[in-house]
Amino acid sequence: MSPTPKTTRELLAHMEQSVMFTAARPPVVMERGEGSYLWDVEGGRYLDFIQGWAVNCLGHSPPVIQKALARQAAVLVNASPAYYNPQWIEFAGLLTKTSGLDKVFFANTGAEANEGALKMARKYGMRHLKGAYGVVTAWNSFHGRTLAMMSATGKGVWEGLFEPKVPGFTHVPFNDLEAMRLAVTNKVCAVMVEPVQGEGGVFPATVEYLRGLRKLCDETGVLLIFDEVQTAIGRLGHLYGFQHYGVQPDIMTLGKGLGGGFPVSAVVAREKACLFDIGEQGGTFNAQPLAMAVGKAVVEEVIHKNLCAHAARMGGRLMDKLKEMGREFGFADIRGMGLLVGVDLPQSEIPPGPAQPSAPTIGHQVVQECLKAGLLINSPRPATLRFMPALTVTETEIDEMVDILRGCLQRVL
Ligand SMILES: Cc1ncc(COP(=O)(O)O)c(C=O)c1O
Repeated sequence: MSPTPKTTRELLAHMEQSVMFTAARPPVVMERGEGSYLWDVEGGRYLDFIQGWAVNCLGHSPPVIQKALARQAAVLVNASPAYYNPQWIEFAGLLTKTSGLDKVFFANTGAEANEGALKMARKYGMRHLKGAYGVVTAWNSFHGRTLAMMSATGKGVWEGLFEPKVPGFTHVPFNDLEAMRLAVTNKVCAVMVEPVQGEGGVFPATVEYLRGLRKLCDETGVLLIFDEVQTAIGRLGHLYGFQHYGVQPDIMTLGKGLGGGFPVSAVVAREKACLFDIGEQGGTFNAQPLAMAVGKAVVEEVIHKNLCAHAARMGGRLMDKLKEMGREFGFADIRGMGLLVGVDLPQSEIPPGPAQPSAPTIGHQVVQECLKAGLLINSPRPATLRFMPALTVTETEIDEMVDILRGCLQRVL
């Protein structure tokens, strides 16, 4: 065996020999994290406002996760999905109690949770809606990268990819109640939206829209599904995004922050939608004890440390600082909720669809400049920057981020 490579150059040379290419990544290799900071293998330090893509709600390597993993690993790593484990039952109870919904199915990724939700909706359609199986989602949405979720996602650049798509999906403009009303025909069993479109560039639903969707679903008998993979576990200043809107869905999917960095996701649903028969849903690692122990510890920490209120406060500060900066640089828009915030750069023509990381968009240039200056942010659209720090982020860290960003914008714009 050759010795383990250590420098960035050595590691990247090995990477090229064995790692499948799927995305353009910068030439850094991250080795260690603590709180709001990451360090690369050369010792370079980064203030992280991406946090695993809105995942690490407690920051990097929080003691809570370290302890939960160590404790659980010493007792039981995997009993097999054929048997219950105590953490599974307790974690499910925590999610039903805090959401007001009835039952939980645990999975591993956001896309897998969404798949589960749509299987439930189709079963519901079969049982209660004369076999209706259609699902209406929004343009500019993001629901994951499995074949069915790429079909569910309303993303223009994915059209024509991996054809044929899974049938049964219709896309309508987001925040347009009338369009949704027209799309919900008697062939439809569910409507699925994100309370805030995160990957699409941070576009919050209006209160009227989500309340209108609830009413429409109640009138038609169609299920209302909220994809809360990005918006839950404190991200919007509430444990669940729907609590901000006062609109409870029939099915909610969770992921990302649910495990604070450990892969775990969930489908949380009203009893009436829980129609699986034996063998219709499952998976080798679903409700795996390590994931259950970590997820439960993370959600309890968010609740006990009152991190939703902290996220709302820090989000307010971040917004205020960005608005100040917006006056200086002429930002075209600043929007978001809690600690999910987006900024459109000045005078930008914003074409639909995502940023192409390899193309020199203005957003990409700012992201690159920030990386060089030790700040990690993301650009989900060509002229949009997105900020999604840990819920534990401090005022000092927000101020530090703003200082670094200001310097970078002065150089790039
Ligand atoms: C709203 C939403 N749904 C689903 C997903 C897919 O989650 P995963 O990448 O864990 O499959 C994402 C990921 O960004 C998301 O933001």
